[in-house]
Amino acid sequence: LVAPGDAPLTLPVAAAPAPARVPTARRYLMCEPRHFAVEYRINPWMDPEQPVDVELAVRQWRELKGVYEALGHRVDVVEPAPGLPDMVFAANSGTVVGGRVLGSRFRAPQRAPEAEHFRRWFEANGYPGVVMPERINEAEGDFTWTGRYLLAGTGFRTDPAAHAEAQEALGVPVVSLRLVDPRYYHLDTALFVLAEDLVAYYPQAFSPGSREVLAGLFPDAVLADERDAACLGLNAVSDGRNVVLPLEARGLAAEVERRGFTAVPVDISELRKSGGGPKCCTLEIRD
Ligand code: ARG
Repeated sequence: LVAPGDAPLTLPVAAAPAPARVPTARRYLMCEPRHFAVEYRINPWMDPEQPVDVELAVRQWRELKGVYEALGHRVDVVEPAPGLPDMVFAANSGTVVGGRVLGSRFRAPQRAPEAEHFRRWFEANGYPGVVMPERINEAEGDFTWTGRYLLAGTGFRTDPAAHAEAQEALGVPVVSLRLVDPRYYHLDTALFVLAEDLVAYYPQAFSPGSREVLAGLFPDAVLADERDAACLGLNAVSDGRNVVLPLEARGLAAEVERRGFTAVPVDISELRKSGGGPKCCTLEIRD
């Protein structure tokens, strides 16, 4: 209590310290890009005329896998199939929450067979009863679990009717969000979860109503700018403390560090030629 006549209490003006960020052990499923190629164009990043270096893609992918393992996470792998050049983007083949697996159904016929390879992997590895969707559903490409809500993207790939299907199959509340910029054709190119109730996103990738929803749900969100979005910087993976993201996303890396996270930059340039980044290569198995 301040008694009359006391000198007024002055406090140093300082920003609130960033909270301690606690990592949790994760389990990921990945698929080596041994058959990687850009042979068709289903997003604006893909140019079949531009040469790709498969060996470089494999090296970058192995480094990413090594980063997860060095952070103490478990990585399982699915055997890549010849003729499926996008199979490296494992995130598109399953959404797993609370041990329940919802498979995928691709929009592009070229990618359609990938869904069955992953379904079989789940069935053979302790996840019987994978639910296969009726509607176009590109899994974690468009579905992001925050720990409380399943954020669900639509506009380019996943059918909005797949959002309701996901709610039924997984038994979690789904929040639909509309994507409006074709460069950010999947939700995971425009938003990622840093920690429960904290996300980073690029507002311009979303419709006005969806921006309002995001602002309401996540008032403290990290807002990425055009430069961080345009290198697919938001295609990042957080374990609650360590944030694995494309090395070009310098502004975003600095901002997550300011919030108490540790940025872990990776070079994923070869896979970006197909419109992918670290998160696209990483399906999270949440038991
Ligand atoms: N070339 C792939 C496609 O267009 C890239 C998929 C990237 N995956 C992701 N989760 N965003 O389908």
